Amino acid sequence: MALYSEVVMDHFMHPRNVGVIENADGIGQVGNAKCGDIMKIYLKIENDIIEDVKFETFGCGSAIASSSMATEMIKGKPLSEALTLTNKAVAEALDGLPVHKVHCSVLAEEAIKSAVKDYYDKNGIAYDPKLFPDCEHCEHCE
Ligand code: FES
Repeated sequence: MALYSEVVMDHFMHPRNVGVIENADGIGQVGNAKCGDIMKIYLKIENDIIEDVKFETFGCGSAIASSSMATEMIKGKPLSEALTLTNKAVAEALDGLPVHKVHCSVLAEEAIKSAVKDYYDKNGIAYDPKLFPDCEHCEHCE
């Protein structure tokens, strides 16, 4: 069996939503201390809906495929829905990731959450801090 699913390969070779949004409403950047990979997500938000989303990922193929898939999954969706997106859902949508690559999908979940938090912070919108666990103490990336 191939190490990577066809869906992973497709999103790696032809990533969707790559780029930058000028004047983005929310920007989230996260990194994985162990592998050194970095993911940045840009959100354009209107009336609580993600009108547009773009990403820049400096990382492995699985991180690029995860970013691509995750952006597709939240585009056009309300923020509340984007916040419920888990790395597990991203990995499942990719038809699975090898066990040692699951942490790459975690970057996507964290980067989206961080971008939404940035939007809330910039606009003085109140939120439950529990929605945004402190990355430093998050065991996901261990
Ligand atoms: Fe670092 Fe994939 S190896 S995100």
